[in-house]
Amino acid sequence: MCGIVGYTGPREAYPVVIKGLKRLEYRGYDSTGVALLNGTVKVYKKKGRVAELEEYAVGKELHAHTGIGHTRWATHGEPSDRNAHPHTSRSGKLAMIHNGIIENYVQLKKDLVNKGYHFTSDTDTEVLLNFIEDIKENNNCGLEEAIRIALKRVTGAYCILLINEDDPGTIIAARKGSPLVIGVGKGEHFLGSDASPMLEYTKEVVYVNDYELAIVKPDELILKNLGNEKITPFITKLDMDLAAIEMGGYDHFMLKEIFEQPSTIHDCLRGRLDATAGTITMSGVQNNIEAFKTAQRIIIVACGTSWHAGLVAEYVIEELCRIPVEVEYASEFRYRNPVINKGDIIIAISQSGETADTLVAIEKAKEQGAVIFGIVNAVGSSIARLSNGGAYTHAGPEIGVASTKAFTGQLAVLTMMALKIAKEKGTITDERYSKLLFELDSIPEKVEAILKGANAIKAIAEKYKGAADALFLGRGYNFPIALEGALKLKEISYIHAEGYPAAEMKHGPIALVTEILPVVFVATKDSYHEKIVSNIQEIKARKGKVIAIISEGDDVIPSLADDVFFVPPADEIMAPLLSCIPLQLLSYYVGIAKGVDVDKPRNLAKSVTVE
Ligand code: AGP
Ligand code: GLU
Repeated sequence: MCGIVGYTGPREAYPVVIKGLKRLEYRGYDSTGVALLNGTVKVYKKKGRVAELEEYAVGKELHAHTGIGHTRWATHGEPSDRNAHPHTSRSGKLAMIHNGIIENYVQLKKDLVNKGYHFTSDTDTEVLLNFIEDIKENNNCGLEEAIRIALKRVTGAYCILLINEDDPGTIIAARKGSPLVIGVGKGEHFLGSDASPMLEYTKEVVYVNDYELAIVKPDELILKNLGNEKITPFITKLDMDLAAIEMGGYDHFMLKEIFEQPSTIHDCLRGRLDATAGTITMSGVQNNIEAFKTAQRIIIVACGTSWHAGLVAEYVIEELCRIPVEVEYASEFRYRNPVINKGDIIIAISQSGETADTLVAIEKAKEQGAVIFGIVNAVGSSIARLSNGGAYTHAGPEIGVASTKAFTGQLAVLTMMALKIAKEKGTITDERYSKLLFELDSIPEKVEAILKGANAIKAIAEKYKGAADALFLGRGYNFPIALEGALKLKEISYIHAEGYPAAEMKHGPIALVTEILPVVFVATKDSYHEKIVSNIQEIKARKGKVIAIISEGDDVIPSLADDVFFVPPADEIMAPLLSCIPLQLLSYYVGIAKGVDVDKPRNLAKSVTVE
């Protein structure tokens, strides 16, 4: 969470930093601020969005060639002007921005207060900054050395950027747990939480690793470890263009990303799936094929929407590969004492590749000798780098806070993997394998067809936008899609929604059904279709309002449901890739109808880099 930007070079820093912050605003939008270094340090910061800061800064002294900026997702202290970053040190000479949490800040703060320090914010960040300055003054050392000493004594996660009045043109950065990318230009450097702030200036970037410190000047980038040893920066070429991070004529990133799915799923399959030849080429899986074939168990760790993709994978992998699968919330997995046996494979699923809960869960599992397989969207991200093997989802940058195209990318990758492993293991017949390959190949077209019906979903959204609660029900492969539909509605429309396996209704939640409760059934044709038809009858018998996502050709449910939306027929294993699309649209249109800022819903951030 939180976006950080830095610039040092011949350009005016302020516009570069502001533009970068706008690109990173998806990471947090509680407050925004910049610090500019031109002789002295000047800080401008405000509660709210980047646009509000821009308004506030009009007419102020903004000329500088070195600057840092922050867009915050508050962890310590409410969103306010005073808690906004950058923070300045007691001397006023240092300014710092921070992404993460300093877990032992209470003790550090106590010590500093005893020494006479006063704090102007409630943040852990201001404590770390003054802790650094205190070390600098007491040890009579340079800022770089003080940072090194301080970081050895803090616990938690951070990416920090500091500027110092006594060292014009230099930005010192360090990271542990929170991401940092440095763009290398000609006589200039850019810093960011991801590469988007530097895309139009350079394609050469350095991904900074944990426990590394960067001393960044216009024409020099020095990377060191906390032991003060130099490390050669490894330059990566960015394979991303500006269009991928712009709205391209859509009203919102979320809508753009929903509509991109025919091409993102296609990109994910391209070069991997050849239905005619009957092959799936995935080098990450191939390199670990013996481990997969002999795996006693697969444990999937993820959060939120990625966790839902994991639940779908549980059904698919168990069915096709006959390997037991457990799906764990990464945050829970990390803090109990999980049993990890030799022969277990951990699959980590993450769009951002930076989710702290997932990252620390796999760090722990890796320490215990587990093989980690990462399914990640953000190329070069921390989870991708920590994994022993993996497969990218190739959905391109996802900016909307609600995950949409990354989810279908995850489903596509997991389904391909399961098919490949099943084929290698001999747990699938040739005939079924071939049929499923063709089915998967046809998914992009089918998604395209669903999107053509977006207006029908919009009409359903208008009808139910006033609901206070909603239920989402599904069975089998569609049960995780019901959970995902409920999550989407919650985050994008603020309507309280719950997902349940349809058959569980009678064990409790059916008590909620009244004539005003919308109940969304994800009920595409599968081997237990009659069962869900009975579940719909049970809701109608209690006068609930039924909205059903069903397969073309279903002539039973339309006579029962209040509203239906048809998706093209597909094998039940592929159903989630189709049935999730109308639910994404439903949450989008309800959110819009309610006036929610769907790309940046309240209290959320895209990349959750705190535990
Ligand atoms: C999705 O709509 C959510 N905003 C959220 O649940 C997300 O899926 C979760 O935070 C995990 O993120 P990741 O995939 O980047 O790890
Ligand atoms: N812990 C810091 C704060 O609350 C930084 C949070 C962030 O990553 O935005 O201000």
